[in-house]
Amino acid sequence: MSTTYRSVAWNPQKRRYDLVAAGMIVAFAAVVLGLQAIVRPELTIETLLIRTLGAAALTLLNVILCIGPLSRLDRRFLPLLYNRRHLGVMMFTLALAHGMFSIIQFHSAGILNPLVSVLVSNHRYATISQMPFQPFGLAALAILFLMAATSHDFWLHNLTAPVWKALHMCVYVAYTLIVLHVVFGVLQGEVSLLLAWTVCGGVLTVFTLHLLAARREERSDRENRNVQMDGFVEVCSVDEIPEKRAVVTCLSGERVAVFRYDGRISAISNVCQHQNGPLGEGRIVNGCVVCPWHGYEYAPDTGASPPPFTEKVPTFDVRVVAGRVLVHPQPHAPGTRVEPAAVVTARTA
Ligand code: HEM
Ligand code: FES
Repeated sequence: MSTTYRSVAWNPQKRRYDLVAAGMIVAFAAVVLGLQAIVRPELTIETLLIRTLGAAALTLLNVILCIGPLSRLDRRFLPLLYNRRHLGVMMFTLALAHGMFSIIQFHSAGILNPLVSVLVSNHRYATISQMPFQPFGLAALAILFLMAATSHDFWLHNLTAPVWKALHMCVYVAYTLIVLHVVFGVLQGEVSLLLAWTVCGGVLTVFTLHLLAARREERSDRENRNVQMDGFVEVCSVDEIPEKRAVVTCLSGERVAVFRYDGRISAISNVCQHQNGPLGEGRIVNGCVVCPWHGYEYAPDTGASPPPFTEKVPTFDVRVVAGRVLVHPQPHAPGTRVEPAAVVTARTA
């Protein structure tokens, strides 16, 4: 988090994450390359490299796309989300190397510009069995390039969160293009059953996990219509909120995180200003709500990040009546201080 754009400084945890990820990619590539060399000894090293890099990029993309829904379904996957953008850049690097090797290998010997050659060397776009598959890869690579180039918080800050988020949602367009690239190209040409099953398995896993996570979100997005008094809505009992943690409810279509800490209750928007992380799944550390995704912090009573940081989220009025927590659905402007409700327990009463 920062007053400008340096949200998360480089730290030992990030280095460890990157080293483990790089190590796993190298090990995966070595195994794929070795196995192919054994099973298909007639393949040249160029072809082996092109295939290994493509397979590594697609596998990593599958992993990246699974991390989001997995961490919505089980908090133990949250640490993977922390540095997901670095995985994205690694995946782009693999895809770029694969694309460049392919272009050099198949499109650089003619008189045409190699990029033009990718688009026009096969023009049987009207067929299924002969459909040119490389342009799908090229289009996907262009999207992945835009995403990798704008992955730094500098761009998030300058493009604004909604534009940045929309741009990065294009990963699903890129994923579809890559699946088409593989389906039209390799599956038809090579008829590799193993690759066909790998691609199907990847798509099915990504799709199923997204479906499961969406169903869970849908349940938590059910509007809380438990209106009690003066427009206040009953959320839960005080005891249902663990100390320094939150219960999330849906009020007027917005998710609200209701935190309990040091004998007080405060409610803030559940949506982190950084990348829409779920603040209600974070905890209060040193008096601040810490976003579980990348660690942005907000004071629970003001919804404002501690100085010198400037991020702010909306706050909500809270009451505690007979051990029940009531929240008013009308949000205050981001950063507005709201007096926390005091928790009156049997011992303090
Ligand atoms: C400029 C862009 C691209 C070009 C020109 C290109 C070209 C190719 C070519 C020629 C093949 C067939 C290799 C062979 O069977 O000998 C191939 C396969 C493949 N490509 Fe691409 N590609 C591009 C982008 C991508 C991207 C962005 C991805 C994924 C992130 C990708 C993933 C794959 C995969 C998984 C295979 C199958 C590898 C295998 O046979 O095991 N490609 N590509
Ligand atoms: S800190 Fe990144 S989404 Fe909250």
